[in-house]
Amino acid sequence: MESNFKRTLITTALPYANGPVHIGHLAGVYVPADIYARYLRLQGREVTMVGGSDEHGVPITIKARNEGVTPQDIVDRYHKIIKDSFEELGISFDVYSRTTSDIHRATASEFFSRLHGKGEFIEKTSMQLYDEKANQFLADRYVTGECPHCHNQRAYGDQCEACGTSLNATDLINPKSAITGETPVLRETHHWFLPLDRWESRLREWILEGHKEWKGNVYGQCKSWLDLGLQPRAVTRDLDWGVPVPLNEAAGKVLYVWFDAPIGYISNTKEIYPDSWEKWWKDPETRIINFIGKDNIVFHCIVFPAMLMAYGDNYQLPDNVPANEFLNLEGDKISTSRNWAVWLHEYLRDFPGKQDVLRYVLTANAPETKDNDFTWRDFQTRNNSELVAILGNFVNRVIVLTHKYFDGVVPAAGQLTEVDTALFEEVASLKDSLTQNIETFHFREALKEAMNIARAGNKYLQETEPWKVAKTDMARVATILNTALQICGDIAVAFEPFMPFMSRRLADALHMGKLTWEELGACDIIKAGEHIDSPELLFEKIDDEAIDAQIERLARIKRENELKNFKPAEVQAPTDFETFSKLDIRVGTVINCEKVKKSKKLLRFLIDDGIGQRTILSGIAEHYEPECLIGRQVCFIANFPPRQMMGIESEGMILSALNADGSLSVIAPTSAVVNGAQVK
Ligand code: MF3
Ligand code: ZN
Repeated sequence: MESNFKRTLITTALPYANGPVHIGHLAGVYVPADIYARYLRLQGREVTMVGGSDEHGVPITIKARNEGVTPQDIVDRYHKIIKDSFEELGISFDVYSRTTSDIHRATASEFFSRLHGKGEFIEKTSMQLYDEKANQFLADRYVTGECPHCHNQRAYGDQCEACGTSLNATDLINPKSAITGETPVLRETHHWFLPLDRWESRLREWILEGHKEWKGNVYGQCKSWLDLGLQPRAVTRDLDWGVPVPLNEAAGKVLYVWFDAPIGYISNTKEIYPDSWEKWWKDPETRIINFIGKDNIVFHCIVFPAMLMAYGDNYQLPDNVPANEFLNLEGDKISTSRNWAVWLHEYLRDFPGKQDVLRYVLTANAPETKDNDFTWRDFQTRNNSELVAILGNFVNRVIVLTHKYFDGVVPAAGQLTEVDTALFEEVASLKDSLTQNIETFHFREALKEAMNIARAGNKYLQETEPWKVAKTDMARVATILNTALQICGDIAVAFEPFMPFMSRRLADALHMGKLTWEELGACDIIKAGEHIDSPELLFEKIDDEAIDAQIERLARIKRENELKNFKPAEVQAPTDFETFSKLDIRVGTVINCEKVKKSKKLLRFLIDDGIGQRTILSGIAEHYEPECLIGRQVCFIANFPPRQMMGIESEGMILSALNADGSLSVIAPTSAVVNGAQVK
C-alpha cells in the first residue's frame, strides 16, 4: 500500500491520573494504537507513539480533597500505576510522560501566550457558580445537578453522562456544590474564550469535505456539532490546580484542562526529540493519527484543530481520528467512581504472564462500531477455544512433529504439491486482507484474518496427515512439516502487533531474529537446517476457579454500590391509625421451616401462634437457610384470608424488610415475647 507520507505520529488520549487504567481505556485507545504502531514498525516505517498522563482537571482535585492529600500526591500515585501497567502490557510508547512536567507547562503556557498575542481569544466577564462556604468558584465537575435535557439528577457541570450532552455549569437545574453540598450563588468572573465560530467554515471544509473517509461515528459527531453552530469556549478556569494563565491580570486562574492536555502531545514529542520534534508536527509529510474514545471526539476534531489553526506556524491537523465506542463490563457501563471496571494493574496481578490473552480478547471484542460488552465467560472461552485450541494447538503439533521425525531440525522441502501451494496462496490472500484491515483501523477484522492463518494451518495438517504419511514417505513428511513450519513463522509475524509476547517467544523458538511484515507469507521464512527449540506451550487453559473469582468480585462490588446508592422509596399517601389497626400483626415462633419442592423462592413455615399452629408460605428461600429460622420468633399478618400457593394453603404473611440489594430480612422482636403477642 503506497502512501505519500514519510512518517506517522500516533497520539493516544492522555488518561486522567485520578485512577488506574481499565479495560475500557485499553480496548478503546491503547491496544488499537499499539497494534497500529507495531504494525508500522514491522513495515519498517518511521513512527512515533506518544502518550502520557493527564494530570490537571477537577476530578483530580476532588479526589485529593476527599482523601485529604494534595493533587500532586494523587497524580504521582496514579501516574506510576498507569505507566508501569502500560509497560507490562507491552504498550510500546516511545514516550510516556505527564502534563505536570516542566516542558509541558512551558509549552502550554507559550501556546496560550501566542494565541493571546495574536488576538485569537475574546475576553468575557460572566456570572459563574460560586461556593460561599468553600470560598471558590465551581468549575466543571465541582457542580452537580439536574441535566436540562434528559433530567438525569446527577449531571456534572461540564457534561451529562446519561445523555452525553456537554454542559455549562450554569445550565444545571438545582446545582449543588460537590465540595460542601451547598447551593452555589452566581458571582462575576473574567475568562478567556477561544471563538470556535471563527474557525467554523474551515473546520467544516476540512472535515466534512476533506475527511469523508473517517469512521462514521466520528464524522457523524463532527457533523452534528458543526451543524449546531460553534460557540466561543472558555479556555481558562478559576482553580488553583493547573497551568497558570501567563498573564498578570489572571492571578489565581489556570488553563482549562482541555486546553492544556492535547498540547501534551506536542510536549511529549519535544521530550523525546528536543531537536527534531518539529518535523513530527509541522512537516506535511508527517501523518498524525489520534487514538481516542468517543467522548473525546469534539476536542480532537474541533477544539484542538481550531487551536492549532489559530497558532499557525505550519502545525498539521490530524489525518485521522479513529475513535472507538465504549466497552461495557458484564452489561454495565464501566465507571471509575463506582469501581465497576477490570483494572489493568489488578488483571496483571491476577493473571500473571497473560498479557496477550487480554490484548487478544479486547481486540476481538473491540467496540469499533458500537458499544461492546466484556464478560469473564467470553474471556475464558476465547482463551480456551481459540488461543489454546486453534493457535496454540497448531503450533504445538508442528513443533512436536518436527522433533519426532527430524530431531527438531527444519527439514528441507521437496517438490510442492497442490495442497501446499494452495496453503501458501491462502496465506497470501489472508495477508492482503489483514494488511488492508489494519491500514483502515479495522483491528477486529484484522485479528480474525490472523487467526485464519492458524485455522488454515490446522486444516492443512488435517488434510495432509503427516503422522500417517510417515509410515511410507519421509520425503513427503519433510515437505509437509517444512510448509507447516512456514505457517508458524507467519503466525509469529502476523500476531506481533496483537500479541507481542507470544510472538517473541515463538520467534525465538524458531530462531527468526528481527521480524518484518515483508517476510509474512514467504515460503522460506523459516530456514531449513535450523534447529527448533523444544516446544513450550504458547497458551494454557484458564480454569473456572480463576474466572469465578473475578465474577464474584464484581458481584460484591455491585452489592456494595447498591447499598451505597440506596434511595428510600417515596413515602406513601397518608393513612390513619384506624386503617393500620385493621391489620392484625402478631408474633409467633417458627416450629418448622423447609423449602417448598419445585419452588425457588418459597419457604414453608409452621408457626406456633399462641392459639395453635398455622402454615405460612414466604418468598424468602433465596435469602435464608430454612434450618436457621427454626426456633426464632417472626412477625406475621394474622388476618389475611388463606391463599393457595403450589398446592399448599398459606394462612398469613411473614413480614420482612427489603434491603437495597434486593435481599430480605425477617422482622423479629428484639426480646422474646409470648406467642400471639400483637404488634401495635
Ligand atoms: N484525559 C482525557 C480523558 O480521559 C483525555 C485527554 S486527551 C488529550 O477523557 F488530548 F487531551 F490529551
Ligand atoms: Zn442529560
